[in-house]
Amino acid sequence: MDAIRIRGCRQLFGTIRVGGAKNAALPILCATLLSDGASRLRNVPGLRDIETTAALLRFLGRDISVDTPEVLVGQTTQAVRPEAPYELVRQMRASVLVLGPLLARYGRAKVSLPGGCAIGARPVDQHLKGLEALGASISVEHGYIVAQANRLKGAEVVFDMPTVGGTENLLMAAALAKGRTTLVNCAREPEIEELGRVLNKMGARVEGAGTAIIHIEGKDELDPFDHAIIADRIEAGTFMAAVGATGGNVLLEHAPLDDLEPVVAKFRQAGLTIEREGEHARIVRADRLKPVDVTTAPHPGFPTDMQAQFMALMTVASGRSVLSETIFENRFMHVPEMQRMGARIEIRNNVAIVEGVKQLSGASVMATDLRASASLVISGLVAEGETVVRRVYHLDRGYEHIETKLADVGADIARIRDESSIP
Ligand code: EPZ
Repeated sequence: MDAIRIRGCRQLFGTIRVGGAKNAALPILCATLLSDGASRLRNVPGLRDIETTAALLRFLGRDISVDTPEVLVGQTTQAVRPEAPYELVRQMRASVLVLGPLLARYGRAKVSLPGGCAIGARPVDQHLKGLEALGASISVEHGYIVAQANRLKGAEVVFDMPTVGGTENLLMAAALAKGRTTLVNCAREPEIEELGRVLNKMGARVEGAGTAIIHIEGKDELDPFDHAIIADRIEAGTFMAAVGATGGNVLLEHAPLDDLEPVVAKFRQAGLTIEREGEHARIVRADRLKPVDVTTAPHPGFPTDMQAQFMALMTVASGRSVLSETIFENRFMHVPEMQRMGARIEIRNNVAIVEGVKQLSGASVMATDLRASASLVISGLVAEGETVVRRVYHLDRGYEHIETKLADVGADIARIRDESSIP
């Protein structure tokens, strides 16, 4: 098992390239199931979650070659086996995004319930409610979602809350449904707008993706596509937090500033200078960090996927900040590890009260989930002494060569073999 070793207190200077968006690539890979043709995806990040999705598509019967940043999904002539087994789905909850495409394309699907994960219960009731509204009959048997429909029919679906995955599953299902579907109270993340662009490239008629109300005119069949994935706003935000924590001056190539407005606003409030340079962004932090309160919210609010990274920054700010997590019920697991590094954080239900300290001290810490592991890397960058972040397989799900990208701008960071006996 790998670990990341960091020797902190080095400012960052140079250029970092932001890769393609994981949370756009995953649903778009699932959308390839809607067409038999050969599709090409570009600017795909080299991540464990991409490999897992490719393995799932292969299991379903599709030929796929992953040579990131390119992924080719081959033409299929054979019948796809519309079943996503627990062994694959449990590795990555987003596997549930094959449910809508399989049901729409093949009239049936058997997909393992994704189950919860470290950050929360992660139910999929909204996905199932929406698909039933489109005429699917759905049962849950032995931990599997068993769905069937001769032909999905367009309908109105009103989500109880903005759900990214629920909106994506319904978007893809409606694209092959008969007639018009209206989705109401949709999630508005940029990755959903991107999925809408791809479905339109496939011949669907999607209007309003990225807004709260989406109209879809279903088609009888859809074409393959060739598409370059948008840049990853959360990866970009993570590197902004790293520069904010250590100080320095870094150019983030292809940083999607327009998709990061709430995050950029908070970083600027904390004292970072963030300026657009063409399609890139320059991040500078010169003075002491100021404390800033944050409450996570669905897009265009402050993204929950940036909460842990922002907290790492606030642990060394000059005062008290209050971070409220409103999306997931258990997304403070980075806190005990940061406390071991000397951070002063008090948790009250879904609120973390952070008293900034002058300096963190390096320690051996344990990653628990993707964004928590990124926040511990940031804490290590700014801590005095050596930090070893263990279980970095969490990190590899969503960050491509993060240690190389940070070392290239001056961090003393390396991937090491974790020989310790603790699993
Ligand atoms: C997506 O997860 C992202 N994953 C998550 O990113 C992100 O944190 C999350 O959206 C919120 O922005 C991908 O895009 C692959 P939701 P998703 O459905 O779709 C509740 C990362 O770090 N809900 O928008 O699973 C749910 O419990 C990952 O990259 C229901 O109650 O999130 C949560 O409280 C972590 N019933 C809220 O909605 C449902 O049927 C938002 O969840 C669906 C969701």
